[in-house]
Amino acid sequence: MDKPRSHGRLSVNLSRRPRSLMDGPPDLKNAWKAKVLTLFPEVFPGVLGSSLTGKALNQGLWALETKDLRAFGLGKHRQVDDTPAGGGAGLVMRADVLVPALKEARHGTPDDPALWPRLYLSPRGQPFTQAHAERYSKAQGITLLCGRFEGVDERVIAHHDLEEVSLGDFVLTGGEIAAQALIDATVRLIPRVLGNRASIEDESFSNGLLEHPHYTKPPVWQGRDIPDILLSGHHGDIARWRLAQAERLTKERRPDLWRAYCAKHGKDPDGDQEL
Ligand SMILES: C[S@@+](CC[C@H](N)C(=O)[O-])C[C@H]1O[C@@H](n2cnc3c(N)ncnc32)[C@H](O)[C@@H]1O
Repeated sequence: MDKPRSHGRLSVNLSRRPRSLMDGPPDLKNAWKAKVLTLFPEVFPGVLGSSLTGKALNQGLWALETKDLRAFGLGKHRQVDDTPAGGGAGLVMRADVLVPALKEARHGTPDDPALWPRLYLSPRGQPFTQAHAERYSKAQGITLLCGRFEGVDERVIAHHDLEEVSLGDFVLTGGEIAAQALIDATVRLIPRVLGNRASIEDESFSNGLLEHPHYTKPPVWQGRDIPDILLSGHHGDIARWRLAQAERLTKERRPDLWRAYCAKHGKDPDGDQEL
């Protein structure tokens, strides 16, 4: 496990409070930051603490701050939810709990959503894509509100002008898994997080296509060969084969992406591609 490397990279934040009494991890200068508002802060960094994202977190290439929504709860029981107006099943997270938490998370972040997107993870949101990850990775950081129960009072979304983002057409129990997936996809686009930039450029979605198939040693496995062309050493032929395979897979599996790709490259989506 790499040791955290924050030495010499702390940002200066004047305050009368001793650092030992301040909440959260130290602020790293220029590090992309995710602020996550959740009822389950203990599940973070979770999978983000492993492998390349975990290494980058320890190296200070990005930073994570969780805010426990329970701390903003009301009364002796720190209540965060209540019954839905108009009746019906389930519970709704209260605006008078979430808004103070969001306000606190806003502290020290730019108002401009291009510089600091503020998101509510929600199955009703815009489907999350690689283009979102690219946009978020270019910001200074993001704030993510993880819902639970039936979700959040609608007025919270309006009050903080939250961007609603969905991980897909299914319903999770809470926003935490969605937040980790979104952060993972974003953090790996931050310079220096992945050693090899070329691997990002070739990946699915980066050029509007699904990625070509991969093979590795041994050359014959269980009677199945690696395509000869990949062992030919002809880089031009290999690149053409990979592109053709990527086009074939995209046409077969994702007609939506295929149509968009054809429109961009002046191709006939129904034409014979000789793939
Ligand atoms: C049980 S869900 C609420 C579902 C909501 N009642 C609905 O039907 O749209 C609780 C929380 O999980 C998160 N969540 C569930 N599915 C999600 C998805 N597909 N993408 C992103 N977040 C999701 C949201 O934060 C949501 O507030």
